[in-house]
Amino acid sequence: MRRLVRVALLCLGCGLCSLLYAFSQLALSLEQEAPRRQGDPAFPVRRQLSGGDVVAGGWRAVAGSAGRGERTQLQPMQERCKHVSLSYWNSYWMLPSDVCGKNCFWEAAPRYDFLKTKPSEKMHLAVVACGERLEETVTMLRSAIIFSIKPLQFHIFAEDTLHSDFKGKLNSLAYQEKFNYTLYPISFPTENAGEWKKLFKPCASQRLFLPLILSDVDSLLYVDTDILFLRPVDDIWAILKKFNSTQIAAMAPEHEEPRIGWYNRFARHPYYGKTGINSGVMLMNMTRIRRKYFKNDMTTVRLRWEEILMPLLKKYKLNITWGDQDLLNIMFFHNPESLFVFPCQWNYRPDHCIYGSNCQEAEKEGIFVLHGNRGVYHDDKQPAFRALYDAIKNYSFGDDLVKALLLPLELELQKTQHTYCGRIYKVFIKQLSKSIKDIYDRRSKGR
Ligand SMILES: *[C@@H]1O[C@H](CO)[C@@H](O)[C@H](O)[C@H]1NC(C)=O
Ligand SMILES: *[C@@H]1O[C@H](CO)[C@@H](O)[C@H](O)[C@H]1NC(C)=O
Ligand SMILES: *[C@@H]1O[C@H](CO)[C@@H](O)[C@H](O)[C@H]1NC(C)=O
Ligand SMILES: *[C@@H]1O[C@H](CO)[C@@H](O)[C@H](O)[C@H]1NC(C)=O
Ligand SMILES: *[C@@H]1O[C@H](CO)[C@@H](O)[C@H](O)[C@H]1NC(C)=O
Repeated sequence: MRRLVRVALLCLGCGLCSLLYAFSQLALSLEQEAPRRQGDPAFPVRRQLSGGDVVAGGWRAVAGSAGRGERTQLQPMQERCKHVSLSYWNSYWMLPSDVCGKNCFWEAAPRYDFLKTKPSEKMHLAVVACGERLEETVTMLRSAIIFSIKPLQFHIFAEDTLHSDFKGKLNSLAYQEKFNYTLYPISFPTENAGEWKKLFKPCASQRLFLPLILSDVDSLLYVDTDILFLRPVDDIWAILKKFNSTQIAAMAPEHEEPRIGWYNRFARHPYYGKTGINSGVMLMNMTRIRRKYFKNDMTTVRLRWEEILMPLLKKYKLNITWGDQDLLNIMFFHNPESLFVFPCQWNYRPDHCIYGSNCQEAEKEGIFVLHGNRGVYHDDKQPAFRALYDAIKNYSFGDDLVKALLLPLELELQKTQHTYCGRIYKVFIKQLSKSIKDIYDRRSKGR
């Protein structure tokens, strides 16, 4: 009798095991069947054009006609669950917990979910792209997506002619649950639009108007198109919480070494600190920017952000070289208590290595954000910068980050050791390796 019970229990156990196995196989086969094609009807993300005019009164879309932002929207939760194929598109560790298939069955890890994230928890990233900057911008956005943890909201300001290409590129990226984007036309205040547009490089001064255009966004990270993130955007976003009560924005110094600094040697206008600041990576609490009254050298009255820009341009337009960055330098010269200066590794440029390595923080901890200005991603002057750009551009989402990104990159970097920046190539991958390791750690914890 007892033997019979034992046999029965054994059978029950075996049955349960095979059931589990069958389930997992089923889920796996469904996953493998899921087509990887772009435009797959099962792909759960739907793009929608909404009619919301982004350009408000008093603003002019310089590039002309459209003036429409492309809005993107995700389908409601329930529908996502029907599509097992989602698990093929997205690396499993980033899947929202509501998605069915193998992952629901075996994994119950807490995950970030775009739809459940409150707007205030999203990280807002803005970029302004004109001319031949499409591929570079998309590569920058990809680097943000690869390493970041919390969901990203991209605000892309681009000439109208680039909008459809941006849509095509962004809609075909994997990891759709990690980001959302809005496209905007380039626009300036109606008065003097032409003058703003041609300041320095076309469109560059758009960034000065972001606090006014994105009037319902609290905080924003603005970056140039030639930026690459080598660690999560979350980490630079966290600096917002370190602001003291008077700080409204954070930037890195223009130079570490005054002997080669530009502002301290050539500027014909006031500038912040010893060597000025670089506006290629600019973290802003725009709520505070909109509220602040700025001290200035044009009147004894303090002026709001929207009031100060035009008089500044009028007064200094003959003396400025780097356009809007110079205006920011003048503004923070008069309001130094409002600036948080972050170290050079958050905005690492060729200047930090071509005259000898002078960004000490990067030597210690690695480069966090790479800034390939002067076109170094596209020519052969600084092959170390170019190698990083190519590596991120070459990498396809979902591939193993060590095998498909880190190792080929290291091989390329080793070939650059005869150049000024290549000599310290280890600095270029120090943080990158750590970021990749962190992703694997998070992944295995999530299991
Ligand atoms: C994506 O962005 C658009 C425009 O900013 C917004 O209306 C929409 O709600 C966002 N979608 C999600 C899922 O957050
Ligand atoms: C512009 O530069 C000239 C020459 O250095 C200087 O004399 C002048 O005061 C500057 N203008 C302003 C507004 O600072
Ligand atoms: C920005 O500043 C406002 C006003 O001080 C504050 O309420 C808000 O929390 C700040 N945003 C962030 C992300 O710290
Ligand atoms: C905030 O920090 C800045 C820069 O260190 C400083 O100049 C300013 O006085 C500080 N503000 C307060 C209220 O402590
Ligand atoms: C990127 O791809 C190109 C072309 O396939 C290859 O020549 C180059 O070595 C790759 N670079 C890196 C850093 O992986």
